[in-house]
Amino acid sequence: MQLSLTPVWTSRVQDHAMALDLPTDRIVRLRISAGDEFAPDYSYAIANDSWLGTDVEKEEGEDVTVLKTESLAIEVGTEPFRLRIADQDGHVRFETTDDGIEFTKEGICFIRSIGNAERIYGMGEQGETLDKIGHSFRFWNSDHSHHVPNRRQYCEIPFSIHMTPDGVPPTALFLDNPGEVNYDLGSNDPSVMRMTARTGDFVLWILFEDSIKELLSSWARMTGHMERPPVWSLGFQQCRWSYFPDKRVREIAEEFRTRRIPCDVIYLDIDYMRGYRVFTWHSKRFPDPDKLLRDLRDQGFRVVTIVDPGVKIDEKYEVFQELSKAGEAFIKREKDGEYLVDRVWPGKCHFPDFTNPEVRLLWGEYQNRELLERGVAGVWNDMNEPALFDHQDFAHPASQHDFGLNRRHEEIHQIYGLTMAQASYEGFLKARPQERPLIITRSGWAGIQRYSMMWTGDNHSTWQSMAFCLQLNLSMAMAGVPFVGCDIGGFGGDCEAELFARWMEWGVFQPFCRVHSCRGTRDQEPWSFGGSVERIARQMIELRMRLLPYLYACFVHAAETGQPINRPLVCEYPNDAAVHRLGDQFLVGPDILVAPVLFPGHDRRLVYLPPGVWYHFWSDQRLEGGRWEIFEAPLSQPPVFVRAGAVIPMHPVRQHTGEPEPRETYLDVYPGTQLRGGLVEDDGLTQAWRNGIESRITFTGWQDDLELRLYLSEPDGEYRSARDRWTVRLHTEHRSVASVTCNGVKVPFERDGSVVTWSMDEERAAIEVSVAFQR
Ligand code: GLC
Repeated sequence: MQLSLTPVWTSRVQDHAMALDLPTDRIVRLRISAGDEFAPDYSYAIANDSWLGTDVEKEEGEDVTVLKTESLAIEVGTEPFRLRIADQDGHVRFETTDDGIEFTKEGICFIRSIGNAERIYGMGEQGETLDKIGHSFRFWNSDHSHHVPNRRQYCEIPFSIHMTPDGVPPTALFLDNPGEVNYDLGSNDPSVMRMTARTGDFVLWILFEDSIKELLSSWARMTGHMERPPVWSLGFQQCRWSYFPDKRVREIAEEFRTRRIPCDVIYLDIDYMRGYRVFTWHSKRFPDPDKLLRDLRDQGFRVVTIVDPGVKIDEKYEVFQELSKAGEAFIKREKDGEYLVDRVWPGKCHFPDFTNPEVRLLWGEYQNRELLERGVAGVWNDMNEPALFDHQDFAHPASQHDFGLNRRHEEIHQIYGLTMAQASYEGFLKARPQERPLIITRSGWAGIQRYSMMWTGDNHSTWQSMAFCLQLNLSMAMAGVPFVGCDIGGFGGDCEAELFARWMEWGVFQPFCRVHSCRGTRDQEPWSFGGSVERIARQMIELRMRLLPYLYACFVHAAETGQPINRPLVCEYPNDAAVHRLGDQFLVGPDILVAPVLFPGHDRRLVYLPPGVWYHFWSDQRLEGGRWEIFEAPLSQPPVFVRAGAVIPMHPVRQHTGEPEPRETYLDVYPGTQLRGGLVEDDGLTQAWRNGIESRITFTGWQDDLELRLYLSEPDGEYRSARDRWTVRLHTEHRSVASVTCNGVKVPFERDGSVVTWSMDEERAAIEVSVAFQR
């Protein structure tokens, strides 16, 4: 979008224009022009141009100007250039070196001092560690089949969170430049971070908040929130390259239902198309897609189809003809304006220019006509870095529409996937305005969460790849993309039983829960590895289905606040230095901690439990946190823990989310001094929640030596679920319960091992529960 910020300070350095804006009291934007003057002020990342602004006091000194707002004191000088920003508590939150800019052959290089023991998080699919300090990265989305940490990935986002362990609040940086960007995070000189934009203006956003969580909220406000997703996208999803013909798809669906393994979604990979032409169907393999989709839907399956950007050059192919007629439809060769050609699955292709709104419109229409109208439920955008077969990048300098600015592709390379997802999303909403769109994409950039969820691309069926993916998920979440996941079991290569089981054990806790595998590899369905692995897969998928109400509340929270669904522990425990670099265990929402087993043959693992009390999920053992401990982790029981005080809403297992809404909601209460939890209910599919057709209930309470109190708030909102009763399961191995009263009336309870259970009628009013413990 075009931004309308007014600079509070301007200057020139070595023939380059410079400007500072203060979009809010806690956000600073610095621009440095690549040429003499600034390029027009457009951003692909920013989705919100209604800035609050702020009052500024300006003192112009001889070599520095000081700008003061309520929260910040900004000193900026130009000879040589330096920038120093302190907060109202006097903490220096951002500082360049004494000569903070270099204009080099590689582009504009900005040099910032690294703080003492600084940790750096985020950046999307970058690197193999949660903390990126000491690494260097190139940002240039690409398709590298090796999918290893030192190769470039599909979605690299120059948004980073910087934190020092001295209690100074964290700061975030975003280099708003969609061309090639290079970061050196202290890899050469540990005291400096160098950020280089090879092309285009250097536009740096600096965000100041009090915590990582607030930075992520601020980032979501700037770049857009993820949509509340359709509830079926939280279910288990099965994919393979490819299930075809239609008979095979039906067999897979049937297997899920007869084996009683819950599944919501089946994917169709590229072989459903006619010669890989997008928006077509293969007439022999899928002679009647409408009927297939209808029948699957009757069995409770949604179908998501892949769509690649490359449009086959074929005069007899309607999509090609129409787009060719549209003019400016494809990416052009800069020198002669001819459409660029490269090979992808269909052979020689042109590549739609999704920065052109007319192309997005047409794309959306085809998506609707050939996919959505036939009953396809969601769209899977792939190969959109874009991936090419003949070259790593376009063979010739290319140009794109780009808000009518006609810029070089290389200056906006990073947003190809973002704009393709935008086309898909806009098309979906136009076709089905009452529904919640479900778009999944491989490539993206800053802001992708507002259009699409993401999966981390072509991983491998190896232990190393599995561990790498866990880290990618967390770094994506820390770059503002909460709805993310990797292909469970690994894409490339043959998976084996133990790896599949271990991957399922934590994969079901990912926001996006899909098994996928490459053509030519062995079968990779939950039942492909024998009975015992099938039992583990079923048990884990069932656990996900049971946890749906908790997960859904996490998704809604993510959509409203930008908070990750899978979060590194540092999000919740920033003051605990033990978690600052911890990337091999994660939280699901605020209350569930998962420590996956990441090595073959390991039947136990070392886990760090943050300060506080935790419950072992499988045994209900009560554990003191703030320490490391080795836990047994036999297959089928990965280390999972619940925070004391959590109230986790759960459902009975369903085979898919379209089965009738359960009449019973469980509340798993893990006693702690303060209780907390919540439930958000709506129809799971439409936009009606925007008009208040939803229902929110919060769970609060406390516990002392004598009593536990639990309050269920009166439902807020118009939605009425099918629930007619609550069943509370109090996990308390060491306390004997004397009585349970609900709204003053005694209710019978039962104890089974460590769990005390009772039921209460749904009231549509507040419920107050008192549990008296035996003295
Ligand atoms: C790409 C995708 C993969 C897909 C394959 C065939 O490699 O990343 O998921 O199966 O293309 O479409």
